[in-house]
Amino acid sequence: MRRIVISVLFFCTITAGVFSQTREVIEVETNDLSMIFSASRNESVVFHYWGNKFSKSSAFKNNGFREHPDANQDAASQLYPAYGGKLFLNPALRITHNDGVLTTELVYAGSEKKSLDANRVETIIRLKDKLYPIFVDVHFVAYQKENIICQSVTVLNEEKKSISIENFASSYIPLHAQSYYLTHFHGTWAAEMQMKEEKLTPGIKVIESKKEVRTTQSESPSFLLALNGPAQENTGEVYAGSLAWSGNFALSFEFDERGVLNILGGMNPFASTYHLQPKQKLQTPEMVLTYSSNGKGQISRNFHDWSRKYALQHGDKIRPIILNSWEGAYFNFDEKILTDMMDNAANFGIEMFVLDDGWFGNKYPRNGDNAGLGDWQVNQKKLPHGIGYLADHAVSKGLKFGIWIEPEMVNPESELARKHPEWVVKSGKRDILPIRNQWLLDLSNPQVQDFVFNTFDQVVSMSPNISYIKWDANRHVDNVGSEYLSKENQTHFWYDYVKGLYSVYDRIRAKYPDIEIQLCSSGGGRLDFGALKYHDEFWPSDNTNPLNRIFIQYGSNTFFPAIATAAHVSTSPNHQTGMMLPLKFRFDVAMSGRLGMELQPKDIVGDDYEFARNAIKDYKHIRPIVQFGDLYRIISPYDENGWSSLMYVSKDKKQAVYFAYSLKYHDRTTFFENKLNGLDPNKNYKITELNIKSGHHAFNEDVKIFNGDYLMKVGIGVNLGNPFESAVLLVEED
Ligand code: DGJ
Repeated sequence: MRRIVISVLFFCTITAGVFSQTREVIEVETNDLSMIFSASRNESVVFHYWGNKFSKSSAFKNNGFREHPDANQDAASQLYPAYGGKLFLNPALRITHNDGVLTTELVYAGSEKKSLDANRVETIIRLKDKLYPIFVDVHFVAYQKENIICQSVTVLNEEKKSISIENFASSYIPLHAQSYYLTHFHGTWAAEMQMKEEKLTPGIKVIESKKEVRTTQSESPSFLLALNGPAQENTGEVYAGSLAWSGNFALSFEFDERGVLNILGGMNPFASTYHLQPKQKLQTPEMVLTYSSNGKGQISRNFHDWSRKYALQHGDKIRPIILNSWEGAYFNFDEKILTDMMDNAANFGIEMFVLDDGWFGNKYPRNGDNAGLGDWQVNQKKLPHGIGYLADHAVSKGLKFGIWIEPEMVNPESELARKHPEWVVKSGKRDILPIRNQWLLDLSNPQVQDFVFNTFDQVVSMSPNISYIKWDANRHVDNVGSEYLSKENQTHFWYDYVKGLYSVYDRIRAKYPDIEIQLCSSGGGRLDFGALKYHDEFWPSDNTNPLNRIFIQYGSNTFFPAIATAAHVSTSPNHQTGMMLPLKFRFDVAMSGRLGMELQPKDIVGDDYEFARNAIKDYKHIRPIVQFGDLYRIISPYDENGWSSLMYVSKDKKQAVYFAYSLKYHDRTTFFENKLNGLDPNKNYKITELNIKSGHHAFNEDVKIFNGDYLMKVGIGVNLGNPFESAVLLVEED
């Protein structure tokens, strides 16, 4: 609490000197948080505060804006700093006006607030340029219960001719503290969302992507920013943001000469000047913001609650357990191989079969990744009875049926590439560089948007029993260029591609509101709330090795909920890493997300067969807790001790499930800190171990009933000492 007061005073004092006491105070509030700005007509809007709400809503107004000897308007943090005036920071907005003038000075032009419904309040703060007819609206939607604020900006050009928008951020947040710790997530194929925390030093740290597609494979537009020390799980101030945009992005953290950290987040300005015509509006994506004074655990729970309700399809529906054909069959299948997989899957209690890549293309059959993309007709040699036959077979076995597509891409070896070379992204007469033997279709072109929509439509129409689509995208953009866009507007590609994609998603969701769709881009290459809101789940990584998945899922689940986190048990040795890990460990990791399998089920035999069947049965029991519950991370896999544990607690606190993993050999030290979290201190809980393999118990305490207070203050003993031992405990109100 003390720090909040300090920060309020800071912002009041720094901005005070030249401001009158009569400035209008604009508050954007959720149940527990608030952002506070002050404004006066024809002056810039000042950003004063972002954090816990004041106990008395009038506190800020009553305290007024204090005088400070050094205060002057230049030092004030603005709501939305444009390049112009005395701004010395990286700007949120930079415009070249039609007469060549490079500066913009935004001043207050009014504000509005309205309730969108019982949980959402919209605030719009209107700004305009002092001289030019340029109008900028800063929008906030405050989600009361989830403590999330989404910020976006629109700019309207009322000049007589076009203007050029060079920088156009979604949000600007100024913070002030003794020190700043940035947590960001980087990676590569098969190693996405690797967490990195660093203390920021004066200067600018930029996290960005220019890949457009697979844009989150190497960096993520989701971040945490802790004040005065590294982010802790249950204590300390943490700010967070996640840009809902599936294209190029940039997050910049500018630690300035005043000691203020200026955080800008939005689309990447790289090579993306946008020419805005008279009367035309341009809108940024939303930056999803939250804050916690109780550590990053609460940040994750805010994001999860919000995304289940607002940024995910069917967030209130249990997800099925899936067998995906990829690692079990790759491109090498026929009807018998697939129907056998389905029969075996049904015996395990699996609920859906997903046919992955390899089912299409005739002239250029898709028997490898070098041909067929774009030709979305069933391969008659492999599947002579068509997709309907397979989907019906699945349904006859009690399984739902899903199928894979990659509609944004084309192999040079395809009928489509020959028919529509003008649809391919290319840089003038330069060679088109393939990645994974494929080219990208130009979604800025409305004809390509129609093609992608029609592909989805036709594939789904192959059978009324298709209830799931896996949408993949296996390359990114290089040598950019569009035959559709004019030569002046080539820089619009980055914006228009994503808008084209979203327009296709909108059409799909209007026609197919019920179908489940998985978001996949070579694994977690497109993991952002902008895309996720059209999907039911995401594929976090092609790396199914549970040791690596613990880290990948830890990173992904910092922002995105378990219900959407596809986690599959695959074979051993693992196809990505060659590691041989026990089946129990593979299940125990996958069960902390949306469980599935990705192997040849007939290969699971003997003891393993019974174990897998039971694990699937038990997952059905714990699934509502995992998929709808609150996540509490207990031990981070990044802690050097070599354990990792987490739990999910049902909203009514009657049930919880606890997962623990040993990541290395621990000599004789098998006891580790295991204070549970999120339980009701006044309830008694019974603990039952699940997934016991070969009679080996990890939880062997005599007493099985504990008070919630005890479990959270003293904790439990779990015996995990060897590498890749693991435990799953069901904690239920007694
Ligand atoms: C990449 C995906 O991430 C995999 O799961 C699989 O669908 C392959 N593409 C198929 O080509």
